[in-house]
Amino acid sequence: MKPFPTLFLLAGLIGGGALPTPLAAQTTNRLVIHADQGRHTISRMIYGHFAEHLGRCIYEGFWVGEDSPIPNTRGIRNDVVEALRKIKVPVLRWPGGCFADEYHWKDGVGPRAQRPARINTHWGGVIENNHFGTHEFMDLCEQLGAEPYIAGNVGSGTPQEMMEWIEYMTSDANSTLANWRRQNGRQAPWRLRYFGIGNENWGCGGNMTPEYYSDLFRQYNTYVKNYSGNRIYRIACGPNGGDYRWTEVLMQRVGRRMDGLSLHHYTIPTGNWGRKGSATQFGEDQYHGALRRALEMDTLIRRHSEIMDRYDPEKRVGLIVDEWGIWTDVEPGTNPGFLYQQNSMRDALIAGLTLNIFNRHCERVRMANIAQTVNVLQAMILTDKERMILTPTYHVFEMYTVHHDATLLPTDLECADYVYQDHRIPGLNVSASRNAEGVIHVSLCNLHPDQPASLTAELRGARPSRVQGRLLTADSVQAHNTFDRPDRVRPVPFHEARLTENGFAVTLPPRSVVVLALQ
Ligand code: AHR
Repeated sequence: MKPFPTLFLLAGLIGGGALPTPLAAQTTNRLVIHADQGRHTISRMIYGHFAEHLGRCIYEGFWVGEDSPIPNTRGIRNDVVEALRKIKVPVLRWPGGCFADEYHWKDGVGPRAQRPARINTHWGGVIENNHFGTHEFMDLCEQLGAEPYIAGNVGSGTPQEMMEWIEYMTSDANSTLANWRRQNGRQAPWRLRYFGIGNENWGCGGNMTPEYYSDLFRQYNTYVKNYSGNRIYRIACGPNGGDYRWTEVLMQRVGRRMDGLSLHHYTIPTGNWGRKGSATQFGEDQYHGALRRALEMDTLIRRHSEIMDRYDPEKRVGLIVDEWGIWTDVEPGTNPGFLYQQNSMRDALIAGLTLNIFNRHCERVRMANIAQTVNVLQAMILTDKERMILTPTYHVFEMYTVHHDATLLPTDLECADYVYQDHRIPGLNVSASRNAEGVIHVSLCNLHPDQPASLTAELRGARPSRVQGRLLTADSVQAHNTFDRPDRVRPVPFHEARLTENGFAVTLPPRSVVVLALQ
């Protein structure tokens, strides 16, 4: 595709609360990093993932079976695990999604040959052979070094079924269910911290009202027990995007019974679910549209947090953004029910800006799970039989590992807008943190497709003696990795930042994600 025409810049503001920039100062992008003010930890759980029984995510993406010629450990492919270990996946959500509210866990334990075949009614109507179940998922989490996050079935399951699943997984007793787990090959109980009581119960999880779901949450939650010292963090189904009433009702009626409230927000480039737009063949309208819609995450978190603050001023209940990412049309010729899409430099920018938003809201956002890990939606990894490629989104997750469990440093950014027709968004996006060794990391996105951006940063309360950087960019925002050209988009060292008397100065290439380390 042709590069976009150069657009004029206007002044904009983000992440600050400062006053509008006068026109004369339009070209100056300024950042203040308050290295003297960090109070909140960026939970590494913000860098979490989601894997559903959908398309080729679980089957082919993770699970190839023990007899596969693809190298595997107990049926789970080694290349995918090895790649995901490098991005330090902290938590993995499973089995859905919409699939969760029709999943019956007993179908997925015991000898594989005897497990029932079911129809995956949500995703292509394909046969689910249940070869990947609880034991395989827990094995995958152990291989990844990730915490399991299980979504329970409220929509079509019973409180008894939910209660028994938790006993099966977490009890050390000499009970029939715990002994069944032992017979199935697992002696010690698993540690299970995160448990979701339903998924999207306003939609595919039962089409409920918030009042009805709140009552059901209270009922099901009563039977979510803490066995053998395991303590469950209970996550309630939260709103669909900007459904603020859902949050209000849940906070009123469920309140302290939950530990976390979920939020789902997908970025649809066109804003039209019927024609979402291609993952790689798009013009500036859909580029700007996608970024604009991804940036809505900030408003959603702010407004849901304001409601939560009224009921929970201590911020005990976490906002758990357990589904997010760009959702485009599927790749031509693939099963529409499999949600297989390519992943471009645009996706990398969406990942970079969204993770920056989560970092900046880490006081309330305690976990997030991008949808989905392999071969589905905004994936980290795409596979084709024995081959595997890493996506631009993967590289952003790898570059941002420096923020895991680091202390958020507040930032004020004043920057020029990136304008398209009558739409405008701030051209830059940032977050900063300090890690346990005292190193300050700054992640910056230049969202403009063809304009570099110079930025002057003041660092308050720190005097680094060295700055190093890494850069992810590509020759176009449509650029993506393919099985024939797997390294077209990958991070490289970045040398365009220099220390100044009170901070640093940097020139960010167009369409780029840059992570700086200051020490
Ligand atoms: O991630 C794909 C689907 O999106 C999930 O199954 C559902 O929860 C959401 O609507």
